[in-house]
Amino acid sequence: MIKAVSLALIGAGNRGAGIFGQYALEMPHRTKFITVVEPDAAKRKAFAARHNIPESKCFDSISAFFAAPPKGIEGVIIATLEDQRIEPIMKSMEQGWDILVEKPLCTNKEELIKLYDATKNYGKILIVCHQMRLSPIYRTIKSLIDSGDYGDIVCVQHSENLSWHHMAHSFVRGFFNNDSLTPMLLAKSCHDMDMLTYLLGKAVKVASFGSLKYFRKENCPKGAPKFCLDGCPHYQSCPYHVMKIYFDHDTDPAYIRQMGVVEDKEHLLELMKKNRFGKCVFQTDNNVVDNQTVQIEFEGDVHASFTMCGHNGIGRRMTKISMTNGEIDYDGISGDIKTYRFEPRLDSAIKVVAKGTHGGGDRAIMDNFIDAIVTRDKSILLTPIQNSLEGHLLVFAAEESRKNGKVVGIREFEKQTRASLFGKNKR
Ligand SMILES: NC(=O)c1ccc[n+]([C@@H]2O[C@H](COP(=O)([O-])OP(=O)(O)OC[C@H]3O[C@@H](n4cnc5c(N)ncnc54)[C@H](O)[C@@H]3O)[C@@H](O)[C@H]2O)c1
Repeated sequence: MIKAVSLALIGAGNRGAGIFGQYALEMPHRTKFITVVEPDAAKRKAFAARHNIPESKCFDSISAFFAAPPKGIEGVIIATLEDQRIEPIMKSMEQGWDILVEKPLCTNKEELIKLYDATKNYGKILIVCHQMRLSPIYRTIKSLIDSGDYGDIVCVQHSENLSWHHMAHSFVRGFFNNDSLTPMLLAKSCHDMDMLTYLLGKAVKVASFGSLKYFRKENCPKGAPKFCLDGCPHYQSCPYHVMKIYFDHDTDPAYIRQMGVVEDKEHLLELMKKNRFGKCVFQTDNNVVDNQTVQIEFEGDVHASFTMCGHNGIGRRMTKISMTNGEIDYDGISGDIKTYRFEPRLDSAIKVVAKGTHGGGDRAIMDNFIDAIVTRDKSILLTPIQNSLEGHLLVFAAEESRKNGKVVGIREFEKQTRASLFGKNKR
């Protein structure tokens, strides 16, 4: 019988416990968590109980864990927030473990370059959770492009349409609402920048525009208290009232997981009176954009435009690829990929069966990680860290453009970042 791969989890939050932990519970023959690092005591205990981890193998800090890591760890999953990534990555590399790290990799361009250089010669597995690359939808789109049937790519129109409640939860009330941690393009759309570079190669230059148009204090309805549950008079008219977002029959469980260990609805109600998710959406400390466009030129005269907007009925991505002998069109609502080949003439519709979170990508990336650990075949990996530089660089360059109103050359941007870090003559 094949032995399950022994993993460590750093960060037992929404993603750590809810996605990676859940995978282990559903696939015990493939993997198991033998140790956990999580500063929140309730989350740590809950995770340990579900995964039968003894207290001696539970840690409340990264330093305590790396001072005496339990024996037998084969791989580690790093699912902390993005400002807590570099240290666990570096220390895990010192241990020689296989690593899966959540995206985004870091919060600024300097950290990115340092990380990229430090991981260049790492011999073990080190992948980034850009699970979109592995989702059945984008794997199908990639294979259609690679088939050669449709010729060469000329233009791409891609968009990330967040639902209004996802925008409010994560990017107005939630942890990713302020660019002192992470700008919107990094937090949400680094998947999209990664996908564009995956499909199109190296970007040459970028221009971006964006703003926080709606979730601002001046749009707050008169008399709204700071917390919805303090008797907000606008319950009927406001879609963002907490009773509508967090107490609905189809509330996304990920929203609740981010609040810690929530016992029941009464407990949730208590939390909503004082936690960040209970606040009026017009009265938080948010500053990240709710709409942004990015125009990119890629090598080989290929152009792409990307739109992120947080004001949509249904969250979905849309991708339209115009090619010299055809068009590939994906619509996230129907889930269909439509193809139009010019010669020989053929139109078709493909229904991709994509089950599970992130269009099946979460399950697929864990499968990919475990498969690679078991087989030691790194060629099967679709998201090695070295392939993440371009997408992340594009994010930071686009932000530079948006803030300073100029077109940014990607290679010049990389060169300047390296020069600021290491001096003028180093690459
Ligand atoms: N790949 C994706 O599609 C995707 C989707 C959502 C979120 N994310 C990313 O995943 C990361 C985690 O997001 P989340 O929603 O799970 O957030 P979360 O807050 O629910 O989880 C983060 C956990 O890390 C813990 N933590 C904080 N400091 C720590 C430390 N020093 N050592 C160990 N644990 C520590 C926190 O207590 C928390 O439990 C974020 O960077 C986010 O951008 C990725």
